[in-house]
Amino acid sequence: MRLQISAVTFLSALTSLSSAAPLLPNPLSLLASWNIEGFAEDNPIGPTTGGKGGETVTVSNTTSFLSAVKDNTPRTIIVQGNLTFTSRPKIGSNKSVIGDKLTQAHITGSGLDIVNASNVIIRNLKISYILGNDCITIRNSTRVWVDHNEFTSDISHGPDQYDGQVDIIRGSDWITLSWNYFHDHWKSSLVGNDANFRDIDFGKLHITYHHNYWRHEGTRGPAGRFGHQHVYNNLYEDFLYQAIHSRSDNQVLVEGNVFRGDTREALSTYGLVIPDDSPNTCVCGDEELDGFANLGARNDWGGAGVNITQVGNFTKAPYKYKLTPLFLVAPVVKLGAGVGKI
Ligand SMILES: *[C@@H]1O[C@H](CO)[C@@H](O)[C@H](O)[C@H]1NC(C)=O
Ligand SMILES: *[C@@H]1O[C@H](CO)[C@@H](O)[C@H](O)[C@H]1NC(C)=O
Ligand SMILES: *[C@@H]1O[C@H](CO)[C@@H](O)[C@H](O)[C@H]1NC(C)=O
Ligand SMILES: *[C@@H]1O[C@H](CO)[C@@H](O)[C@H](O)[C@H]1NC(C)=O
Ligand SMILES: *[C@@H]1O[C@H](CO)[C@@H](O)[C@H](O)[C@H]1NC(C)=O
Ligand SMILES: *[C@@H]1O[C@H](CO)[C@@H](O)[C@H](O)[C@H]1NC(C)=O
Ligand SMILES: *[C@@H]1O[C@H](CO)[C@@H](O)[C@H](O)[C@H]1NC(C)=O
Repeated sequence: MRLQISAVTFLSALTSLSSAAPLLPNPLSLLASWNIEGFAEDNPIGPTTGGKGGETVTVSNTTSFLSAVKDNTPRTIIVQGNLTFTSRPKIGSNKSVIGDKLTQAHITGSGLDIVNASNVIIRNLKISYILGNDCITIRNSTRVWVDHNEFTSDISHGPDQYDGQVDIIRGSDWITLSWNYFHDHWKSSLVGNDANFRDIDFGKLHITYHHNYWRHEGTRGPAGRFGHQHVYNNLYEDFLYQAIHSRSDNQVLVEGNVFRGDTREALSTYGLVIPDDSPNTCVCGDEELDGFANLGARNDWGGAGVNITQVGNFTKAPYKYKLTPLFLVAPVVKLGAGVGKI
């Protein structure tokens, strides 16, 4: 415990020093990858580059946002201020959508759709209180990097007032979610949203989750069907019901994660959809095939349960990545995740 506290103090001091003197390297980048890493970077169809090579535009209202994101021309869109959408913007291919460093960006009203697209980067955005729908839905899309964002609402209105935070469906593939701060929300990240879409989803849905901070959440951190998810170096605090859930022949590789607080189940491959998953709408029960899980570098489960019913064959990630030492995962993730850090 004492070691952790002094590690936090030491890292905080180094982090503030490096922001005061921007020429110093960010100390967190010595302990974890600050750049794109995982399936969005290393995959058979090429790295995710977003708007690279295109123009950069700055937008601060919904009209200019919509016109900047909709086509497939490479473009970097810097977003400033609070944008309240009345319908869901659709982000086209070859886009980087990035919250402004100084004024920041906050999206409410409706969340974002990435549909039938490829090569999209979303960074440094806060997205909150999206009623009855997801903060971000990635559907039939490839090469997406969702990095350093914040997703939040409240848990007090139950599971179905809002929907997912980042849901990834319909054969989407080659995606990385890194350094996001997911908090105060019931359903976090559903991968493959229906056991009936086996033919569309099976063998797709390769997703890397690393250095995300999940705090005070309900379920799905993530919950996957039919795909492969590499889940490493994430911090879970008070993930109330069920964090990582691998079902319907899904495969997860789980390593170097830390679970804290009131977290009932860290990892399960049992096909049971728990009553807390989405009590108002789900047909809960043992209705699906089980999934698979493999464990890599040691996890710290805290007091949370682990139920691995089938060990799978996703034993090694097919790319290079930087693992943070387990005792530093909590301080590194707390200092590095969320908006205002890049
Ligand atoms: C939106 O911002 C653009 C500049 O980016 C400006 O030209 C336009 O008038 C603004 N529209 C509204 C409705 O404020
Ligand atoms: C955005 O809204 C928040 C409150 O939700 C407010 O504190 C902030 O000043 C607003 N920012 C801008 C640029 O309007
Ligand atoms: C995605 O592509 C399908 C098939 O071409 C089409 O039916 C659907 O309307 C597209 N969705 C969007 C939001 O463009
Ligand atoms: C998926 O998106 C591609 C374009 O990237 C489109 O050709 C295809 O029809 C879409 N499929 C569905 C089921 O929407
Ligand atoms: C933009 O994206 C489309 C669809 O993914 C791709 O076919 C096209 O080559 C890209 N355009 C450029 C200029 O990179
Ligand atoms: C673990 O999964 C098995 C099914 O293989 C089930 O019978 C058991 O109740 C589960 N345990 C917990 C604690 O959920
Ligand atoms: C991994 O296991 C799954 C489920 O049993 C199976 O469908 C797949 O063929 C296996 N893959 C390899 C490479 O053995």
